[in-house]
Amino acid sequence: MSPRRLIIDCDPGVDDAIALLLAFASPAEFDLLGITTVAGNVPLALTAANARRICHLAQRTDVPVYAGCPRPLLRSLTTAEDIHGSTGLGEGLLPEPTMPLQDQHAVAFLIEQLTTAATPITLATLGPLTNLAVALIQCPEIARGIDQVVMMGGALGPGNITPAAEFNLYVDPHAAKVVVDAGLPLTMIGLDVTHQVVTTPDRLAALENLGTPVGKTAADLLRPYGQIDCDRHDLAAPPLHDPCVIAYLLRPDLFTGRAMRLAIETEGSLCIGRTVANAYPIPATPANATVIETADAAGIYDLLTERLGKL
Ligand code: BDR
Ligand code: CA
Repeated sequence: MSPRRLIIDCDPGVDDAIALLLAFASPAEFDLLGITTVAGNVPLALTAANARRICHLAQRTDVPVYAGCPRPLLRSLTTAEDIHGSTGLGEGLLPEPTMPLQDQHAVAFLIEQLTTAATPITLATLGPLTNLAVALIQCPEIARGIDQVVMMGGALGPGNITPAAEFNLYVDPHAAKVVVDAGLPLTMIGLDVTHQVVTTPDRLAALENLGTPVGKTAADLLRPYGQIDCDRHDLAAPPLHDPCVIAYLLRPDLFTGRAMRLAIETEGSLCIGRTVANAYPIPATPANATVIETADAAGIYDLLTERLGKL
């Protein structure tokens, strides 16, 4: 089978970085056309630099990186340096990138790729959905070029940035609404899933024991990451969010989910950014997403460690 044509839209971010490494380590499965970045965990200049830092680390400077939207559609930007460190990748762990940032805007790149694709393209979204929403608003025809969108975002249970909302969809709920309402083949991997995939000391040690720069950096990035989440949500260990999207594309058998009707709250003050999912859709409002509910954490971490060992 030929590799899946893939674009990763992200806001690196520690867990975005691990997701990028997992994709880089899977060349037989992915033809990675480009990485688009958006403002989210940290401002846009840093997410665009961090994506390139990870390209250098994985020696994949052949993958072009495009910077996209510097702020959400309507709201002002909320960032998460408390979780990801002041640079978005801890505190100065990786050197400044020397590979160039592409001149083309991420939204222009998405539109160009998706309107000229001979084979539909998969989109992995790991951050706020601003870039994809703007592309859909500017050029709704891009839908024809999309094979599927697999998004890390949302929560059926409690949120992580507010009691109701998960970070990515809280940052740009209006963009999330544009994407969810676009009728695309959409898979949601929310907190209910990613909180099952925790970074235990054993799993961290397995990455460190790869004995490679990638293994060591991955462990160094993940060690402090997520402790706030862990404490706040009473988890056994810090959760791993974004790599679940790439793991799902590689090994869907490690996940289970159901078709549901998904909607995004954009108006309430307490629940803005909330994903409202109806697991019992009716004909008038049929299912519009596959919502993943369970993940095999050990299987995902084994996959991650095995793949990162190849870089
Ligand atoms: C999501 O928010 C970000 O901080 C992470 O990178 C992930 O995409 C989890 O809520
Ligand atoms: Ca992210």
